[in-house]
Amino acid sequence: MLVRAVVRGVGHYLPERIVENSEFEKSLDTSDEWIRSRSGIERRHFAAPGETTSDLAANAARAALHDAGMEPGDIDAIVLATSTPDLTFPSAATMVQDKLGMTNGFAFDVQAVCAGFVFALANANALVLSGQAKRVLVIGAETFSRILDMNDRATCVLFGDGAGALVLEAQDGSGSSDDRGILATDLNSDGRYRDLLYVDGGVSTTGSSGVLKMQGKEVFRHAVEKLATTAHTALDKAGLTGDDVDWIVPHQANLRIIKGTANRMRVPMDRVILTVQDHGNTSAASIPLALSTGAHDGRIKPGQLVVTEAIGGGLAWGAVALRW
Ligand code: UT7
Repeated sequence: MLVRAVVRGVGHYLPERIVENSEFEKSLDTSDEWIRSRSGIERRHFAAPGETTSDLAANAARAALHDAGMEPGDIDAIVLATSTPDLTFPSAATMVQDKLGMTNGFAFDVQAVCAGFVFALANANALVLSGQAKRVLVIGAETFSRILDMNDRATCVLFGDGAGALVLEAQDGSGSSDDRGILATDLNSDGRYRDLLYVDGGVSTTGSSGVLKMQGKEVFRHAVEKLATTAHTALDKAGLTGDDVDWIVPHQANLRIIKGTANRMRVPMDRVILTVQDHGNTSAASIPLALSTGAHDGRIKPGQLVVTEAIGGGLAWGAVALRW
């Protein structure tokens, strides 16, 4: 027998304000047509002034707890993936803990940029497998609108704000790939590529938060190559192949990357959950937002095999194979 971290609930939250591609046409030399055709993005949500990452995260957490039929006091640990925390410290996770009225357990942030949710899931899984926590709230939450250079058309049209959350619970499994829960994880990073996607400020350098800089074409090239490989590796570790996959739930950065990855994995696009058109790239929030969307509209069903994969700044990338 083996302990598995099984998904008990999922939820998300999006800020009220929707920004259509056409809004950028007013201030930049860009077009709805360019943004749609190069990225697949049609609109994104931006947080309201004063609305913070921990606000979005707490709302997503409440939705996931409601879905799981659990109270905040039932949770042992919060793992929150974000690159846009409210403050340099304390962690946004401890702010979520307080907003939920939770005085038990422990909470911390994970920083792996767009791959953050995959890294957070792998860490939460390790907490469950090692017996350090039985019920873990895993959240991805971002306010990327706060680190965008609104004069840089090559980046500011691509990102959005939002949050998604999962509740994981320890459950005995047989050890086979038929078990529900997280079956395998695969994490990677290579700091030689840090200049391809970074924010040009920080505590120990400029003392300010800075703005996002990206060599889009280079990141694109790495993404298509590395995402299919990491997804295959995760499946392989679980003793499964692309043919076993019911749903790919990819990081939602670019429709062309998502299609290229699915194609390399020989998984048809009708088995891919897409939210990039409505959310843009929400970094660590994009996978839990897509999981919540796919589960609540009835596509992702208990017992189905889901593969998530993501890449972002670092470069950092990875995949998780799990049975819903
Ligand atoms: O989530 C973290 C990981 N990030 C990603 O996965 C992003 C990966 N990269 C991408 O998604 C794509 O590379 C982009 C969507 C960022 C760009 O698409 P692309 O097909 O690689 O375009 P490009 O950067 O080569 O730019 C093509 C042209 C350029 O003009 P020239 O040099 O050909 O004259 C750009 O200046 O498009 C121009 N351009 C724009 N035009 C209109 C760049 N941004 C815009 C814009 N509107 N917003």
